[in-house]
Amino acid sequence: MTGPPVRKAIFPAAGLGTRFLPVTKAQPKEMLPLVDKPTIQYGVEEAIASGIEEVIMVTGGGKRAIVDHFDRSRELEHYLEERGRSDLLHILAEIDDLSNQVDITYLQQKEPRGLGHAVWTARRLIGDEPCAVLLADDVILCDDRPVLKQLIDAHRTTGATVLAVRRVPRNEVSRYGIIETGGSKGGIHEVVDIVEKPSADDAPSDLAALGRYVLLPAVFLELDRGEPGAGNEIQLVDAIKRTIGTFPVVGVEFAGDYYDTGTVPGYLRANLTLAMKREGLREELAPLLRELLDGQPDRL
Ligand code: G1P
Repeated sequence: MTGPPVRKAIFPAAGLGTRFLPVTKAQPKEMLPLVDKPTIQYGVEEAIASGIEEVIMVTGGGKRAIVDHFDRSRELEHYLEERGRSDLLHILAEIDDLSNQVDITYLQQKEPRGLGHAVWTARRLIGDEPCAVLLADDVILCDDRPVLKQLIDAHRTTGATVLAVRRVPRNEVSRYGIIETGGSKGGIHEVVDIVEKPSADDAPSDLAALGRYVLLPAVFLELDRGEPGAGNEIQLVDAIKRTIGTFPVVGVEFAGDYYDTGTVPGYLRANLTLAMKREGLREELAPLLRELLDGQPDRL
């Protein structure tokens, strides 16, 4: 099945980052680094590698740092040029290259009314075509095929709204949107219901929707209703749920390493893991970790 291509991606980045206070008091959580790169840059790189041409960042107050990050800094370039630091200039050139490959538009979500509301804020820029949504907190790395590309490919074959799903431990289901599946084929599940943050007892499965979506325009019509759900917020999951039955919705069990950077323990775990994978850092960190754990094997 071929419909219009998925060309636009929304990055909801208007959350207040309260789980990370005090560091997020004056700084967006999307700018927190994994090793040395802000989480939002991983998402933008993934979107571009998946064929996205337009990025829409939905920001709240105090998000200037995101705008500056993807903008050129002539002052810094000049400074590095004068000192012959072509190695560092190369890093700036990479960011510049990203913003040359996509148009980035910034929109303001005027009140923090939930993920669904943040996505709805971009409705006029999206128009009547399918679009992607990426949550920068969920960093998913896959050498073979970026996870968003995996979703876009599934959208192309099914014509459906697509969610990235993965099995999570039963005691963690209350942190996620959880799907109920009908039939499944080749890692693609038909979604017959979705529940936002259910209790372990009420969860219809252990398949969680993790931070990547391809949405059909019908989802925006449901968001238009502005109905609050769990936590009295307008939930993206609720709008998707209301399209089930009228429009197809599927979950793709994606390939890739998933890092939940949205909580402090998850964020630290992601940083340690990526740092240990990086040559040059691993050699420094491994002895330190051994030393810290020495004599405390129960902490492992
Ligand atoms: C959001 C979504 C939830 C999804 C999760 C993935 O929740 O509402 O459905 O499973 O992201 O990380 P949040 O983590 O913003 O509370």
